[in-house]
Amino acid sequence: MSKSLMATAQAPANIAFIKYWGKKDSGLRLPANDSISMNLGGINTTTTVEFDAQLLADEVIINGQPADERAYGRVVKFLDKIRQLASQDLKAKVTSQNSFPTGAGLASSASGFAALALAAVSALQLELSERELSQLARQGSGSACRSIPDGFAYWKTADNSVDSFAYSLHSADHWAISDVIALVDQSEKSTSSTDGHKSALTSPFFKTRIEEYLPTQLEKVKTALTQRNFKDFGQAIEEEALNLHAICLTSKPPAIYWNSATLSIIHSIRIWREEGLEAYFTIDAGPNVHVLVETKNAERLKTKLTELPEVEEVLIAQSAVGARVLS
Ligand code: DP6
Repeated sequence: MSKSLMATAQAPANIAFIKYWGKKDSGLRLPANDSISMNLGGINTTTTVEFDAQLLADEVIINGQPADERAYGRVVKFLDKIRQLASQDLKAKVTSQNSFPTGAGLASSASGFAALALAAVSALQLELSERELSQLARQGSGSACRSIPDGFAYWKTADNSVDSFAYSLHSADHWAISDVIALVDQSEKSTSSTDGHKSALTSPFFKTRIEEYLPTQLEKVKTALTQRNFKDFGQAIEEEALNLHAICLTSKPPAIYWNSATLSIIHSIRIWREEGLEAYFTIDAGPNVHVLVETKNAERLKTKLTELPEVEEVLIAQSAVGARVLS
């Protein structure tokens, strides 16, 4: 009797302190620059993959619903890569569940493709190293490669696929910092990050970002993380978020991800900081605001953010381990 080719894996979302924005190769998802992130505990995707000789086509269920055409196509393309690696052509049933509210405006592609990569590879009993798994997840969604290793991750750019993967800079318990996430708009974003990566290259500031600004900024964040220097860390990640959005605003076509709530939260954080609450923001390709604090201040910050009328919901995530097989 043949063994069941089925596995379940879980992977966290991650927040980038130095962002991945712009690709050298969009097919392979080779990033224009290195990036640094932290895995987000409790904000994750759990995915079961079962390869089955009875299936005539892949089936993809996300949060209890059949995947839309775009997501389905992306998952099938990714499964094809894994089938090629395993030299086989069985179709699969993929069932994926996010722990966070559906449509919360939180990127699910990182946790989604990291969990899918690990579940599919485990179902087929392929023996991949963490590094190979990270390279593979990267090809589903770039940021997914950072959800494979534990804790704080560093993703290297490279000119070829084999050398671009993420590894752990520090374990999850290296530093007790939290991401307090203020959700302000739970709808789909208007410019997908995949489109944003393309237009980034048209910003007149892109070259300066890559060649002059990022090399120093990456070092600043890396050093602050190693030394657990919260002030240096916070200043560097805020600077980086603003630099990224300067690229977005000056791309053709421009991508304006912020709304009035985003801006209002930014101003509040700056005021709270003057009042003694050390908190720093970062923002991805959407209007929600991620606020980094030392974990001892997370609940206090959550209360303050919840009191702002423009904030719909607040989540707290601490640094977490990377992708794991559950069964
Ligand atoms: C702004 O990983 O979603 O969150 O490779 O096209 O799937 P694709 O892009 P994606 O881009 C994430 C962009 C970002 C910054 C970051 O996480 O580094």
